[in-house]
Amino acid sequence: MASIKLEKITKKFKNTIAVNDIDLQIEDGEFFCILGPPGAGKTTLLRLIMGLEKPDGGNIVIDNESVIGVHPSKRDIAMIFQNLALYPDKTVFDNIAFPLKQQKVEGGEIRERVDKVAKDLHIDWLLDKIPSQLSGGERQRVAIGRAIVRQPKAYLMDEPLSNLDALLRLEMRVSLKELQDSLKETFVYVTHDQVEALSMGDRIAVMHQGILQQIGDPDTIYQQPNNMFVATILGSPPMNFLKCSMQHVDGSMRIVHKSFSIETKNKDCIDALKSASKGEAIVIGLRPEDIEIQKTKGKEQSVPAEIYVTEPLGNETIVDVALGENVIKVLAEPDFEGQSGQKIWISINSAKLHMFHDETHECVYHASAKDKITIV
Ligand SMILES: Nc1ncnc2c1ncn2[C@@H]1O[C@H](COP(=O)(O)OP(=O)(O)OP(=O)(O)O)[C@@H](O)[C@H]1O
Ligand SMILES: [Mg+2]
Repeated sequence: MASIKLEKITKKFKNTIAVNDIDLQIEDGEFFCILGPPGAGKTTLLRLIMGLEKPDGGNIVIDNESVIGVHPSKRDIAMIFQNLALYPDKTVFDNIAFPLKQQKVEGGEIRERVDKVAKDLHIDWLLDKIPSQLSGGERQRVAIGRAIVRQPKAYLMDEPLSNLDALLRLEMRVSLKELQDSLKETFVYVTHDQVEALSMGDRIAVMHQGILQQIGDPDTIYQQPNNMFVATILGSPPMNFLKCSMQHVDGSMRIVHKSFSIETKNKDCIDALKSASKGEAIVIGLRPEDIEIQKTKGKEQSVPAEIYVTEPLGNETIVDVALGENVIKVLAEPDFEGQSGQKIWISINSAKLHMFHDETHECVYHASAKDKITIV
């Protein structure tokens, strides 16, 4: 078991700051996901924790002791890579047993530990096979087995599922989560897949260009993104953004888009908008599931719009809706039918609106029901 603390960790490669002044604390026994696009610095961060890279600044503390200058083999951490090569002519048993043999563990104990790991990973019936006789997912399990058999203090995983097909990934996601539940060890799991992060992580750290954007539990990161980057990386299709202008008139604030306006008298919301934005522009963010399409003008506060294109996806339909000069994505029922150019109305769940600064893209305000935002 291990807690891992990074204090102002920075790593540069020539002109690239791969990891920029990152502070974070990973708790003992936590499933901690690091989510970010290519080049975000995720692998570099793992390599720093592992000791494969030396930081240019800052401190790394594992279980209350600084590990700066400590050799990777002395950190007692396992790292599982995207492509973990197995020994092709060794059996599954011998592949998993290999680290124990290196540590000169006694034969009976090796048998016991390999059997236990193989059972945990549901590969106990494959122990006599060699890697070429296994499927991709089975091979990945063997690779994971080889890492966990050592019983290290913590596991660092760098996109371990990215080479697998969609169905296998789904299955392995569940297996890894189960494995962590039973081991109760610290997992640091790097991914660029938001579904993996949301479904597996106790907490998620979002990284972009070496900078930590936000840390939080999946719900907080999804519902209250710190900025437009975090709002975009989570959710599929991602959040819609509409640039609007603001008009402040005696105790109420109006946010005006070409197709509709919203209004609130809530002081907290008005104060946040006034202090954050010196100019008049504001970006509102709306998740596709917080918008509803009506084919006839039904509800009050519905806004006229037009279907641009529909994408039926089996279990849901994504409808691209033209709203003034913008096209927004709306999640509709699987059996939704509509023609391009068809006039519709949309209603917006105004308790789920997000407001972002037009230039910094930082969040200014997350609305809730108490804000009593109305569409006018
Ligand atoms: N050894 C290196 N030498 C020079 N630049 C490097 C080195 N390793 C990483 N970088 C740079 O540091 C940045 C972060 O790279 P890193 O591999 O950590 O990103 P990542 O988030 O893991 O990306 P990916 O999702 O593509 O794996 C990138 O701009 C990369 O080009
Ligand atoms: Mg990487």
